[in-house]
Amino acid sequence: MCGIVGIVGNHQVAGRLVDALKRLEYRGYDSAGVATIDNGVMDRRRAEGKLFNLEKKLDAHPLGGMIGIAHTRWATHGVPNENNAHPHFVDGVAVVHNGIIENFSELRDELTAEGAVFTTQTDTEIVAQLIAKYRRQGLDNRAAMLAMLNHVKGAYALVVMFADDPDTIMAARFGPPLAVGFGKGEMFLGSDAIALAPFTNEIAYLVDGDCAIIHRDGAEIIDFAGNPVERAHQISQATAFIVDKGNHRHFMEKEIYEQPEVISHALSNYVDFHSHTVKPVDAAIDFKNLRGLAISACGTAYLAGLVGKYWFERYARLPVEIDVASEFRYREMPLSKDQAALFISQSGETADTLACLRYCHDEGLKIGAIVNVKESTIAREADAVFPILAGPEIGVASTKAFTCQLAVLASLAIAAGKARGTISPDEERQLVKSLAEMPRIMSLVLNAIQPQVETLARDLSKYKDVLYLGRGTSYPLAMEGALKLKEISYIHAEGYAAGELKHGPIALIDENMPVIVIAPHDRFFDKTVSNMQEVAARGGRIIFITDEKGAAASKLETMATIVLPNVAEIIAPMVFSLPIQLLAYHTAVFMGTDVDQPRNLAKSVTVE
Ligand code: F6R
Repeated sequence: MCGIVGIVGNHQVAGRLVDALKRLEYRGYDSAGVATIDNGVMDRRRAEGKLFNLEKKLDAHPLGGMIGIAHTRWATHGVPNENNAHPHFVDGVAVVHNGIIENFSELRDELTAEGAVFTTQTDTEIVAQLIAKYRRQGLDNRAAMLAMLNHVKGAYALVVMFADDPDTIMAARFGPPLAVGFGKGEMFLGSDAIALAPFTNEIAYLVDGDCAIIHRDGAEIIDFAGNPVERAHQISQATAFIVDKGNHRHFMEKEIYEQPEVISHALSNYVDFHSHTVKPVDAAIDFKNLRGLAISACGTAYLAGLVGKYWFERYARLPVEIDVASEFRYREMPLSKDQAALFISQSGETADTLACLRYCHDEGLKIGAIVNVKESTIAREADAVFPILAGPEIGVASTKAFTCQLAVLASLAIAAGKARGTISPDEERQLVKSLAEMPRIMSLVLNAIQPQVETLARDLSKYKDVLYLGRGTSYPLAMEGALKLKEISYIHAEGYAAGELKHGPIALIDENMPVIVIAPHDRFFDKTVSNMQEVAARGGRIIFITDEKGAAASKLETMATIVLPNVAEIIAPMVFSLPIQLLAYHTAVFMGTDVDQPRNLAKSVTVE
């Protein structure tokens, strides 16, 4: 999930490489580095921590040169210090890498026995060491690159530069994405089209098993045996603008407040706001005749899928099998061609989700992808793409992508119900009408609850552990609330199905662990209130997130009650996402954490 970039340019590259890294910083931000060749001398600057540390180094000690490679890191092997930062240099070979070299340990032992001296703790150094070894054996750069590719195992996007060749960069893909950009008299490589957007919009994506050799006037693409292959050029829609925070303190705050607008945009792709009907779904997914649906995703996207399961089963009577992608891919789940598979991913690059997609594709299932990045690998490999149209999400903690994923899933579940005859035209109209009201209601809620949530967040920031409870679609929301809080405030939090409380977690309840109960006044309300009673009876402190009817119906004493308007059941998950997002956000702000780039995380997880 590191970000990589390379330029064989016709003018100075160091500044442009850093500019591209800024667009890739979402992929990792624990260290960064740049290497260039200037007048025959290959040199590098590397720095621990965020990109501005590297920029400071480059200001003090600039790098010249018209060819260079660069990297922003999310550490897998080796602590995130300057020594382990890429590019790695071995005997005139410079390497940047995104992924994991799985057989690095055995290769390292072999090379060490042959006398090689390793200077870092990374798996990446083996790539540079192997190429250097083959060059010493007399292979030219191209042959040495191919020999290395035939020895390493794992997942990688690699970009390699040679001190003795200031006109060429080589690259290879097996797993993580890599794009070749075509400029005028110069060529580019990047982890995605967004990184290359200021330089060119003419892109060719490498596929697994491709090796690219790029010069100023073009790219030659070969397989690992050296045979030429053709990859189509496409015009990327990626924007060249660096998205800014506007008047907000953090991207996360901006993205929370953008939700009414982006959800409206997303919905307009799937429903007709005038007739209150759903628009026809891509025919590649034949909802009418499906026997079942398999859904897989990771993290927040998985939790969106879990809400979707309730909807597909309720409105379309379509059985849903769902699991996190890292488990799904190894479960050897029996699947059949009368099922379809749906993958949800903001980035469209998550390695585990992509592996599940390929597994289901090989099993003969039609593939649907709910993605934000339309040019991503997951989108490109799907039979039907359902864009969430949330716009760039920069905050590492997902907010607007989650609610837009929910909006798309709700629309698809209604469309599936319509196709299968499990909802009547009248029910369709009611459901779509509710969806259409959602952006307005979300706006009202955001404005109304902000001061109360901020005050509450100050209290919450004093605790070490928090429990979230919910039933029905509020159960995945409880898990999402806990995930949001832990990832940005570093407070330990768990999300539980309210009914599971008494099967274990109730042992934890005391005055030191607030319990956040998410309970709109829906079919499950009374049951959830009973679980709240059980918490209250044990001295637990309750933060109650409910609606007007729920607040009126419950007589329990709480630490705080956040009251939202009464809303239709289908939009409750999106509307109730707002207080849990804001609560996590303000708690993190009080605690002074790095809200947009929390420690140890990355926005795009392209390793297993
Ligand atoms: C949490 C979060 C992650 C992602 C997960 C999947 O706030 O953002 O849990 O949801 O890494 O990422 P995508 O959606 O890009 O596949």
